[in-house]
Amino acid sequence: MASKLKLGVNIDHVATLRQARYALMPQSTQIEPNLLLAAQAAEEAGADSITVHLREDRRHIVDSDVFLVREHIRTKLNLEMGNTPEILAIALQASPDFVCLVPEHRAEITTEGGLDVTGNMDALADTIEQLQSASILVSMFVDPDLKQIAASAELGADMVELHTGAFAGAEGADRTAELDRLVAAGAAAHEAGLQVNAGHGITTANVSELFAIPHLVELNIGHHIVSRAIFIGLEQAVKEMIAAMDGYAG
Ligand code: PXP
Repeated sequence: MASKLKLGVNIDHVATLRQARYALMPQSTQIEPNLLLAAQAAEEAGADSITVHLREDRRHIVDSDVFLVREHIRTKLNLEMGNTPEILAIALQASPDFVCLVPEHRAEITTEGGLDVTGNMDALADTIEQLQSASILVSMFVDPDLKQIAASAELGADMVELHTGAFAGAEGADRTAELDRLVAAGAAAHEAGLQVNAGHGITTANVSELFAIPHLVELNIGHHIVSRAIFIGLEQAVKEMIAAMDGYAG
């Protein structure tokens, strides 16, 4: 049976643009672009959730953004975060609907690989427990690697977000191999009782290839939507993505 794919819109790059001008003059009265208006425009256009990544270096989203968006959006808030005590404390205070645990390295331009779940079981177990005790669902951003998926299930995570970046950047036989890994990972995650999400590098041009992945529930998409928004506006860019996601057979 066909099941409509949900869309989480990542608005980090709206904040990237804001910080490019205003990081050093936060008291200005003309700060733009307005992050909350972006979140609300995405919702108006049909987004199912809003994603923000509060990085340790606060390069785009800052603490007050998380609380503001939390308070005013009417869909779900997905907070991406590295597993650090400081950010965990903020997550527990802000109470997003979901947290997606991601690896974070200061020098990276964007999230590079998936989370090393198998190598960090104890630290992750503690964080997952604290989040779930606060009724926050936990997703693990993992490469399409069966060991990482099994470890996520063992830790009692609610969801995995399959890292589609390697697929998006590959060509030819490598692309087919990456897609095969994603297909196997989707099946294994579902089998293990995890909700299957996916994200990174997804565009209107490549999303239909991902329809091969079984049991997908939600895609998290940021850079492409914000880039398209420059030319056609944010609402149109979200609508365009939703239209491209239509036709997923489940
Ligand atoms: N999912 C996760 C866990 C991410 O870290 C990112 C990038 O911030 C995305 C999805 C969105 O990726 P993109 O901006 O390439 O759509």
